Amino acid sequence: GLAEPIRKDIEARLGETVLFSQITPNPRDVDCERGVEVARDFGADVLVAVGGGSAIDTAKCIATILTNGGQPGDWYGFDKLKKYPAPLIAIPTTAGTGSEVTTCAVVTNSATRVKECIQDAKLAPSVALVDPEMTLSVPPLLTAATGMDALCHAVEAYTCTLANPLTDVFALKAISIIARWLETAWANGSDVEARTQMSLGCLLAGYAFSNADTSGVHCMAESLGGLYDTPHGIACSIFLPFVTEFNIPADPQKHGDVAKGRIQA
Ligand SMILES: [Fe+2]
Repeated sequence: GLAEPIRKDIEARLGETVLFSQITPNPRDVDCERGVEVARDFGADVLVAVGGGSAIDTAKCIATILTNGGQPGDWYGFDKLKKYPAPLIAIPTTAGTGSEVTTCAVVTNSATRVKECIQDAKLAPSVALVDPEMTLSVPPLLTAATGMDALCHAVEAYTCTLANPLTDVFALKAISIIARWLETAWANGSDVEARTQMSLGCLLAGYAFSNADTSGVHCMAESLGGLYDTPHGIACSIFLPFVTEFNIPADPQKHGDVAKGRIQA
């Protein structure tokens, strides 16, 4: 797939690589542990993640364990990493997760089926190579689902209690871009302008929620994903209208801004 030309290019310029492709949606701790074994056996010193949020989050978890040791479960929670993870270059192939710029990795605990989060400022990838052309072959349903994930990141970052003036700027811009371009990207996947805008919107949303937070939509979507393997963006889409309706009375001003952001797009 998309990883192969990148791998060949790296091998031609820098030397041998090893491919780890046993990535599952809603990646599990056991998948990450397998990846750690492959990386250790090979003696990897740099990781390159080519894929959607599942691939990038798996790579973040592998990179964490390569330098910090232990198992995924040792690092769930906030600011627990003792060392910087191994260098990671993230190349997203979807416009949704924002994982290429965020400081978290979501990993499913396979024993409890709870989606856990390793959250640490050290966890942001060393380099994010965001090339919208990598997203051109994403089919319509996945385009819609990942785009709605990005919209949820932006709306939740803007309306959650940890929002601040800096994250608000990124969140509102992301909302206006995604509202304007998601349907076009869904309807015509080869529209480079729509794909470019969606990659940008997703990136801005990633900055916003990584420095504020997500909230009710993601809490429930992660629970659903952990228990039933529901695709993340679809789970988020299901909850967004209900959580928004519930939250509006708590902050009519900010929800009004969200609505205006969409109209002005
Ligand atoms: Fe998400």
